[in-house]
Amino acid sequence: MTAELSDSLAGIGVLPVIVIDDPRAARPLAEALRAGGVGCAEVTLRTPAGRDSIAEMSAVEGFLVGAGTVLTVEQLDASAAAGARFAVSPGFDGQLVDRAMSSGVLAIPGIATASETMAAMRAGVRTVKLFPAAQLGGPAMIAALRGPFPEMSFVPSGGIDIDNVADYGIDGVLCVSTSWIAPRAMIAQRDFATIAERARAFVSRRRS
Ligand code: 3PG
Repeated sequence: MTAELSDSLAGIGVLPVIVIDDPRAARPLAEALRAGGVGCAEVTLRTPAGRDSIAEMSAVEGFLVGAGTVLTVEQLDASAAAGARFAVSPGFDGQLVDRAMSSGVLAIPGIATASETMAAMRAGVRTVKLFPAAQLGGPAMIAALRGPFPEMSFVPSGGIDIDNVADYGIDGVLCVSTSWIAPRAMIAQRDFATIAERARAFVSRRRS
């Protein structure tokens, strides 16, 4: 089930990172992203509105929603109950990964080193978030890690925008994560038309 999920994320190719302050903006946001060709989102738990926004988005037909900035087992459980299909964390925590797996949620833990990648592999993970991607060397870091870890796929995140996303069109990248498509302030202003346009532009640059 989670293997199908990672195939879906790979098919979309882009993962918007969402910081949202009002759950009432969540559904129109998901619809705008979908209209722009991006049928998924990682809703961070950095704001109190995160969990309810996951629940709102999970009711949008065909939209794939996951939780981001998942730091504790309690947050993982709450996100899964709200409808999150995947859980992204900035770092690796074996307990969180185990809990995600036993809940049928795809765990995408963060890694920044070969040692963390090995720990993630040991826990049964095959997709990791490379965070913070730009600071770690971006595409060159992924290419280097793919040497010893050819079976691992990466979701680079941190510092990726419309100007550098094309650099990530390399083997081993499952999908590219970015807050560029739907910045927090734009969501707060409910500027969904611009968000849909940015989604479209980002997807097209990602594929170029
Ligand atoms: C995050 O978790 O904030 C992501 O890494 C997004 O980073 P970005 O804001 O640089 O796209």
